[in-house]
Order: sequence, then C-alpha cells, then structure tokens
Amino acid sequence: SIQSVILSGGSGTRLWPASREQYPKQLLALTGSDTLLQATARRLDGFAGDVVANTIVVSNEEYRFVIAEQLRQLGKRGRIVLEPAGRNTAPALTLAALLAVADGSDPVLLVMPADHVIPDLGAFQAAIAEGATLAAEGAFVTFGIVPDRPETGYGYIRAGEKLAGAQSARGLDAFVEKPDAAKAAEYVASGQYLWNSGIFVIKASRWIAAIERFNPAMADACRRAMAGATDDADFVRADKAAFLSSPSDSIDYAVMEKLASAPELGRGVVVPMAAGWSDVGAWDALWEVSEKDADGNVGRGDVMFESSEDTMVMAESRLVAAIGLKDMVVVETPDAVMVAHKRNTQDVKKIVARLKAEG
Ligand code: GDD
Ligand code: MG
Repeated sequence: SIQSVILSGGSGTRLWPASREQYPKQLLALTGSDTLLQATARRLDGFAGDVVANTIVVSNEEYRFVIAEQLRQLGKRGRIVLEPAGRNTAPALTLAALLAVADGSDPVLLVMPADHVIPDLGAFQAAIAEGATLAAEGAFVTFGIVPDRPETGYGYIRAGEKLAGAQSARGLDAFVEKPDAAKAAEYVASGQYLWNSGIFVIKASRWIAAIERFNPAMADACRRAMAGATDDADFVRADKAAFLSSPSDSIDYAVMEKLASAPELGRGVVVPMAAGWSDVGAWDALWEVSEKDADGNVGRGDVMFESSEDTMVMAESRLVAAIGLKDMVVVETPDAVMVAHKRNTQDVKKIVARLKAEG
C-alpha cells in the first residue's frame, strides 16, 4: 500500500509579504480555493491503487492547529508529526518512516513537499503508479522534470537507460543537489539531465536503512525521538531533546547524492513527470501557473486592472487598482505592500534578510 507523507516545515521567504515565518506559503491559498497543503493532501484522490487513508504530515510545532484545521476542512484525517524545530527534510522523513513501520507494516512512502503546484493530476498519478511498483521492489524513485532554465535551487538528475519493461522509468546515473550556475548551465545544455521534482517514492524500511548507513547519528536521534514521542489526538510530538540532537540535512544531500556509492541499498530510478509541475518558489512562478485573463493578468482579492498586461496583483485587505502596469507583481497585506518587476522577484529574499537583520 502507499502511505503519503507531506513535508510541511519550510518558511518560503521569497513569497513575502504573503508568506511569513509565522504563516508559511504552504498554508496559503495562492492559486485557488485550496491552500498548497490542501492541494497536496488531495493529490492522490481517485488514485487507482491502495492508499493508506491517513496521510502523515511532518511539520513544525508552530503550525499544528492550522494544519489540523486545513485537513479537517477537506474531511481528511492525518497523523501530524511535530518537530520542536526544523532539522531539514532527512530527519523529517525519518520520523515519518519510523511512524509508518511502527505497526509492523512496510508501506511504500510517497513523499511530497507541501508547496508545489501540479495541474495535471492524471499525469502525476500515472507517474506515481509507475514509481510505486518499482519502489515496492526496493528502488529509490525520484520524479524528473524537463528543465527549461539553469536554475541553481534544484537538484539535477542524470537519467540513464530506460529500465527493461518499464513505461518510462530510467536508471538514475547521477544526482547533483543545487549545482553552481556554470554546472547547471552545462547540465541543461547537455540534454541529459532532469530537475529533481522533490517528490520521492520509497519503501519505509529502505529509507530507514539508508539513513542508518549514511548518517547513523541522525538515525539514532530520530529513533529516540519517536521512542519518546507523545501521542495526543492527531498529533505525534517527537521527543524534543532527542530530535534536537539530530544532525540537520536534506533528503537530497543525505541520501540521494550518495545512493550510487551503495547499490546494495537499492537502485536509484527516475520517472519523468510531465504534469505542469512548479515549486512556486517565487512570485513570477506563481504568475506562470495561475489562470490569467485575456491580458495575461492575475488578480486575487479586490483588484481592478486598467491598461495592464502580464501582471499579478494579490489584495488581502484593500482594493488595489493597477493602471498601466506590465510584468509587475503587487502583493498587498495589512502591514506590508510589495511591488516588484517580475524579473526581480527572486530578490524578495534580500528584503526579508534585511528585515530580519534590522529586527
Ligand atoms: N517537516 C519539515 N521539516 N519539512 C521541511 C523542513 C523541515 O525541517 N525543511 C523543509 N521542509 C519542507 C518544505 O516545506 C518543502 O515542502 C519541502 O520540505 C522541501 O524543502 P525545501 O527547503 O523547499 O527544499 P528545496 O526547494 O531547497 O529543494 C528540494 O526541492 C527541489 C524542488 O522544489 C530538493 O529536493 C531539490 O532537489 C528539488 O529540486
Ligand atoms: Mg522548495
């Protein structure tokens, strides 16, 4: 069976001022009536295979009530694993894997970041179905996106030969997390690399074995954190001292980059996924994936456009009128307004850093 695991601990600073540390982007309804977390929780609805009904969400303590409420609104139950503080995605997944095997089962975990937009659910579910079959046989399955720019914030996967008998799955020849700009450009130009979507399918026991191999201190801290966890209603609270003693690392650096060095753990596989995937890292990406009017504008909230093109305006608390704007993003919230050219939306993080530094 498939157990979905949603990682929802990040803070999404490039979507300031909508996304805040106290209220990160995955908990916002940025693209429709669902929040990104809710859209993630619904992503397997209608899936043909056998799916465990209760999804596992791993998140920071701080967001527990919002997450529980957002799942409740969908009529979904989840087991919400709480971290006292973030230690990045590898310990988060290790907690989920340990919870998943606690009843003696060993499900295939579908690991999903909570902050992606995936419009084509049919293509997504077909890719997951193919990946889940391979994962059940012991593979570490990633999902690859055809790159369209030398983005340095992603992982790159060199896709190998198509697997015998597979629909589209390929061997994973190399995994490079967040290469520098020169390398990223070289990879894109070579035509041999796919972006890592950040979605993984893997048997729970295989993940635990990989962490035990590559980072025994992390495995040990997470085991102790789950052994000492307290369980109240929907929340599983990892033991604080034990979890805080875990080294911090991501799934990508801790395991995926090292897989090729330990083939006995299981083979790496990449399933290409053409489902319109976007990780909505910044406002320009959100404009890309949003439904636009005839002039290419996206308005949310109380917004008026006049003589404007390819512009996105998000209004939270007031009427915002956009006149004569082209390729702009305007985000209005009660205590901050951001106005940026679409080409500069990555620089929002510089503002956030300055705000932090200036306290
Ligand atoms: N529970 C929990 N705890 N979740 C976390 C933590 C944590 O400490 N840190 C991050 N997350 C969540 C984020 O909320 C997000 O949903 C997901 O895990 C991925 O983390 P990011 O921090 O957004 O990773 P990234 O974007 O730098 O890189 C990953 O995603 C790229 C695609 O979007 C990597 O997998 C890359 O290889 C990949 O290309
Ligand atoms: Mg991300």
